[in-house]
Amino acid sequence: MTIGFIGAGSMGGAMIEGLIGSGTDPGDIVVKGGTHGTAAGLQEKLKFTLTDRYQDFKACRIIVVAVGTSALETVFKQLSQIVTKKNSVISVAAASSIAGMQQALGDQITVAHAIPNTPVSVGEGVIGVSYGSKLSDADKSLINQFLSKLGKIVETTDDQLGILGTVAGCSPAFIDVFIEALSDAGVLHGLPRKQAYEVAEQTLLGTAKLALKSGENPTVLKDAVTSPGGTTIKGIAALEKNGFRNAVIEAITAANNG
Ligand SMILES: NC(=O)c1ccc[n+]([C@@H]2O[C@H](COP(=O)([O-])OP(=O)(O)OC[C@H]3O[C@@H](n4cnc5c(N)ncnc54)[C@H](OP(=O)(O)O)[C@@H]3O)[C@@H](O)[C@H]2O)c1
Repeated sequence: MTIGFIGAGSMGGAMIEGLIGSGTDPGDIVVKGGTHGTAAGLQEKLKFTLTDRYQDFKACRIIVVAVGTSALETVFKQLSQIVTKKNSVISVAAASSIAGMQQALGDQITVAHAIPNTPVSVGEGVIGVSYGSKLSDADKSLINQFLSKLGKIVETTDDQLGILGTVAGCSPAFIDVFIEALSDAGVLHGLPRKQAYEVAEQTLLGTAKLALKSGENPTVLKDAVTSPGGTTIKGIAALEKNGFRNAVIEAITAANNG
C-alpha cells in the first residue's frame, strides 16, 4: 500500500520515521515538501520517494496532510483536483476539521482528522482521531491499521480532538521538563548526570507500563507505594505544598487556550 505525505516537518517526519521503523518499505512512501527543503533533507536519511507533483499522490491509498495552517488551503485546493474514492485523506493539522475537509475535497472522499504526538516516531504515539460520517467500515479499518503502526489510537469527536491533542501533544515537552527536574534533584544529591537521566526516564516508562498493564487508576498505584509516615508520602506532601498538580493543570489549560 502506498502512503503519501504532504509536508514532512516535525510531525510528518515523525510519522514517516515511525512507519519505516515499524517495517513499512520507504519505497512505499511518497512525500512532497515545501519551499525550505525540509523533506529533501529527511529523504537523504530515510530514502522515501520525493516528489513535487500532486499527480503522484493519485496512486496513494492514504494521503496524510501534515502542513502548517498557512499552507492548508493551497494543499486542499490542489488535492481536490486529483483525489478520487480510491484515496483516503487524513489531515493531522490542528486547524483542520472534518467539515472543512469534506467541503474542500467533496462528500464522496473518505476523510479523517488525526492529532498525533511526536512519540509516533518510535511507534509509541497517541493518535487522537475523528472520522467523517460517510466512512465505510472497510475504510475505517484501513485507516486504523495504518495509524496503529504509530501507537495507540484514541477515537473521538472532532470537537474533542483539540483538548485530546493538547494533553497528548504538549505533554511530551512537559514530561521532558519533569525528567530534567528529577535528574537535577538526583544530581543535587550526588548522582552522575547520565545516570540521573537514565533512572528518571526508565522510571517514567516503567510507571506508565505498570499503569497500562494493571489497568489500575493512578490513585491505587500511588496508595500502594505510600506507607503511613513513610518517605514517599512525605515527598507527595512536598509536591502538593508546591502546587505540582495545579501547575500541570494550568500548563494544559494555558496550552489549550494557546
Ligand atoms: N508538531 C507537533 O507536535 C504536531 C502535533 C499534532 C499536529 N500537528 C500539526 O501538524 C502540522 C505540521 O506541524 P509541524 O509541527 O510538523 O510543522 P513544521 O515542522 O513547520 O512542518 C510543516 C512542513 O510543511 C511543509 N510545507 C509547507 N507548505 C507546503 C506545501 N505547500 N506542500 C508540501 N509541504 C509543505 C514545510 O516544508 P519546508 O520546511 O520544506 O518549507 C514544513 O516542513 C500542523 O498543522 C500542526 O497543527 C503538529
